[in-house]
Amino acid sequence: MQTIIEPFRIKSVEPIYFNTRIERETILEKAFYNLFLIHSHDVLIDLLTDSGTSAMSSNQWAGIMQGDESYAGSPSFFHFEETIQQITGMPLVIPTHQGRAAEKILFSSIGGKGKYIVSNTLFDTTRANIEFTGAEGVDLLCEEGKHPLKPAPFKGNMDPVAFENFIAEKGAHNIPLCIITITNNSGGGQPVSMENIKAVKKICAAHHIPLFIDACRFAENAYFIKQREPGYENKTIPGIARELFSYADGCTMSAKKDAFANIGGFLAMHNEELARQCRNLLIITEGFPTYGGLAGRDLEAIAIGLKEVMEENYLQYRIRSIEYLSNKLLEAGVPVMQPAGGHAVYIDAKEMLPHIPPRQYPGQALACALYTEGGIRSVEIGSLMFGKYDANKQLIPAPMELVRLAIPRRVYTQSHIDYVAEVVINVYNNRERIKGLSITEEAPALRHFTAKLEPVH
Ligand SMILES: Cc1ncc(COP(=O)(O)O)c(C=O)c1O
Repeated sequence: MQTIIEPFRIKSVEPIYFNTRIERETILEKAFYNLFLIHSHDVLIDLLTDSGTSAMSSNQWAGIMQGDESYAGSPSFFHFEETIQQITGMPLVIPTHQGRAAEKILFSSIGGKGKYIVSNTLFDTTRANIEFTGAEGVDLLCEEGKHPLKPAPFKGNMDPVAFENFIAEKGAHNIPLCIITITNNSGGGQPVSMENIKAVKKICAAHHIPLFIDACRFAENAYFIKQREPGYENKTIPGIARELFSYADGCTMSAKKDAFANIGGFLAMHNEELARQCRNLLIITEGFPTYGGLAGRDLEAIAIGLKEVMEENYLQYRIRSIEYLSNKLLEAGVPVMQPAGGHAVYIDAKEMLPHIPPRQYPGQALACALYTEGGIRSVEIGSLMFGKYDANKQLIPAPMELVRLAIPRRVYTQSHIDYVAEVVINVYNNRERIKGLSITEEAPALRHFTAKLEPVH
């Protein structure tokens, strides 16, 4: 059959609260043109993030009831631990309350002033946790990854030559870790090939630099490898995932993505000494090593979700539904990142709104327009999120001005997605009316979460 259907039936539903354009204009003004500051009941279709927003399965809910809440030695922890050991082949598993807690613990253990953590592209919380220790985060993305509108199969790849050059310049002893983000969230949800992971591993091994994987979307990445990388078409998703993790010394994961959980994360690794340091920090900041900031029921939901996410029917539907939205927008002329990513469609706001300069945040302006037009909440991944200031307080723009429409897992149906396409296309057809924004208030780190903005007149 040509039609790929949602591989689930719906047992429980939540209402969507409708509002009008005039109401949304007032809501946006009161939220200082920052979509993070809007009440979720004022949003019709929430594409802010795919993180923690999944619909859990009946099996996961059953697991929630079976979760064992013992402080120490809960069977739910052992189920969680064994599942992660099987998927990753890594023996040491440390639960955390979400991905950034795993990052905080890892980088507090290995970071520090004068150190560099190298990546394809660091996610914003990863970079913030690295920089919090005084270390510097360095993105070495491949050339194809820097051109949003040019399709290529593995635009999340790291640039191995740039990595070699960076080691020669800074010295391997100043690089305590390399971390590859799969799929590359900040670079468009684009996958990393097995060949690239192997190439990076070879360089890391030659210089004794541990390789970690930011594994939030490991199953989506494994599915892309199966679809696009020669030699993997007949392999299973667990087999591909296992091979991928076999090249790594450890991983961090936010279980709020590919584990279909509403909260949770973990660190997994081979190195006993590093795990000992991480567990010591865990006890201070998260909790005892068999629960790490999570309830027993969360550990169960994650263990079950991690197995469900590797089902091919699910991954086929997941990747195809993102592509469906992307194709609809492309057909209407909307500049979207190509090819479609694994969890989101990214609109190139720089291309769509050439009349708005980067210092007037074209991505944020577009995100606000999508909200006003149809109540869609998206997120800017551009100069509001990643822009920095020079010594004269002038904005150094981010390399790309993207708006991400992240699709929560198993939540929206095809008609919701058709509605999203209609709204985006309407905004695109009236794009010259969109005005830029300026910041009136901002925090020193991760400013996009709380910044206040106003329209430029
Ligand atoms: C690639 C990546 N790494 C790390 C994180 C942080 O995870 P959490 O939100 O669970 O702290 C995210 C969250 O969006 C992510 O996409």
